[in-house]
Amino acid sequence: MVVKKLAVLFSGNGSNLEAILQKLHGKIFGETKIEVALTLSNKADAGGIAKAAKFGLKSVILNHKDFASREEFDAALVREIEKSGAELTVLAGFMRILTPVFTSRVRAINLHPSLLPLFKGAHAIEQSFESDMKVGGVSVHWVSEELDGGKIIAQRAFEKSAGMSLEAYEAKIHEIEHELLPQVIVEILCQS
Ligand code: GAR
Repeated sequence: MVVKKLAVLFSGNGSNLEAILQKLHGKIFGETKIEVALTLSNKADAGGIAKAAKFGLKSVILNHKDFASREEFDAALVREIEKSGAELTVLAGFMRILTPVFTSRVRAINLHPSLLPLFKGAHAIEQSFESDMKVGGVSVHWVSEELDGGKIIAQRAFEKSAGMSLEAYEAKIHEIEHELLPQVIVEILCQS
């Protein structure tokens, strides 16, 4: 049995963190046991902190405002990730732009609530909902120096139904995210 460690970084509600903890933490897939070794947020009031605590995990809080530059913040992230022994880092609603200090050192994937390369950035759900497109979707990609721009690993699309509200659209995105992200993590950890 090999134990493979994950780090999960988040800024908000943490529903994707919770899906990872429910589906993967301490679970065995073939010869691999997955452990979430680090939960980290840049916001002291992030909902994900209580969700991690339900699994006995005390989150590390690094407030980006306490650092003089993006690079210094990123160096602190790298230190925490390396200390945890995580071989894969998951950005699950981690709303920070990362510099090469992070991207060149950390093997990381990002979850994004649109069909990339469309609707990059922090307002993907609203922008894709408002667009003329007949489908919405979710992407998981490798983190690179380019914001929401690394190689795409997996995508899932759904049809917008007639008269769909923004709330229903957002709920559909989260439902897909909670399935897709854990699946991708297992595929990566069980291949490598
Ligand atoms: C998710 O929808 C994720 O795709 C999005 O933040 C949300 C976090 O939800 N990420 C981005 O927009 C990244 N640009 P959660 O805190 O409930 O997991």
